Amino acid sequence: MSDDLLAQAKAVAAKAYSPYSDYLVGAAVRARDGRIYEGVNVENAAYPLGICAERTAIACAVVDGCRPGDLVEIAITTAPCGGCRQWLHEFRLEQVTFPKPDGEVVSYTPDELLPESWDLPA
Ligand code: THU
Repeated sequence: MSDDLLAQAKAVAAKAYSPYSDYLVGAAVRARDGRIYEGVNVENAAYPLGICAERTAIACAVVDGCRPGDLVEIAITTAPCGGCRQWLHEFRLEQVTFPKPDGEVVSYTPDELLPESWDLPA
């Protein structure tokens, strides 16, 4: 994991729209061909409708043509929530990096973050 990707996630967090939680999250995802997509959390007055930073970043990548297997690594300014872990699994990220609450930066595979994960039965 390049430190640059986490630095980019931290920088973009300033653009988050999170007036309800006041918790700014940023994410940066790198595609296999080097393209980088950024995301922030976007909240809504109807609270459950908000979207996490990781999902915004992945959605931007999808708009640009990326599909599962095209995204290599993602850096997030916080540990990914359970729902985002399912997205990281679906898009087959190879490495997920974030700082723990104590500041230590850790990297995991989606499988490590979501063992025995669910897939649509064939
Ligand atoms: N949040 C993220 O953006 N990513 C996560 O994985 C954890 C939570 C956001 C959602 C909400 O806008 C705010 O953090 C507080 O829960």
